[in-house]
Amino acid sequence: MARILVVYFSLTGHTKQVAEAIAHAARADIEAIRDSAGRDYSPPHLFWFAMEAMLHQLPDIEASVHDPAAYDLVAIGTPNWAGTATPPAMAYINRHKGQFRQVALFCSEGGQGGEKVLAQMAEAIGLKPQAELIVTEPQLTSGALQGMAEEFAHAITAAAAAGPSR
Ligand SMILES: Cc1cc2nc3c(=O)[nH]c(=O)nc-3n(C[C@H](O)[C@H](O)[C@H](O)COP(=O)(O)O)c2cc1C
Repeated sequence: MARILVVYFSLTGHTKQVAEAIAHAARADIEAIRDSAGRDYSPPHLFWFAMEAMLHQLPDIEASVHDPAAYDLVAIGTPNWAGTATPPAMAYINRHKGQFRQVALFCSEGGQGGEKVLAQMAEAIGLKPQAELIVTEPQLTSGALQGMAEEFAHAITAAAAAGPSR
């Protein structure tokens, strides 16, 4: 069976919820990205973290638990911060760039700008994503996530089984 890894950063739990739904539907391994400095991502500091995201600065993150090179496909998720991927998610991509066989990308957001976030991640990785998913907060609260995650999981499972196109 093809191996899939779901990796995500989440501050307030939305992206974690999306990641868990995908991992469950795709029977994938799952891993959270964590800031190794243990920085406090609480509201008084968010302005600075948003600035960091816009300036594309990369924080130190904890050692990866799973080896992405051992997976047929890695799905990477982040919240949308001011139209950019979060610095911890970009730090993960920067660390493992060149080790991914195939990728899929997802983000959660308040309601707009997710396309830019996924495009930024795809460009940094240098691979065309096999699937993309943007989940808004209203979709999370309405219960739409389940069906969206299942559709995404179906696409990544098929891509992982088929292998990278040459
Ligand atoms: C610093 C910051 C900037 C944000 N910027 C945007 C934005 O530009 N567009 C948007 O739709 N949501 C924005 N949001 C909302 C988050 O993307 C949204 O709440 C997301 O689901 C949070 O994911 P998490 O719970 O996994 O941390 C922002 C949130 C924060 C904290």
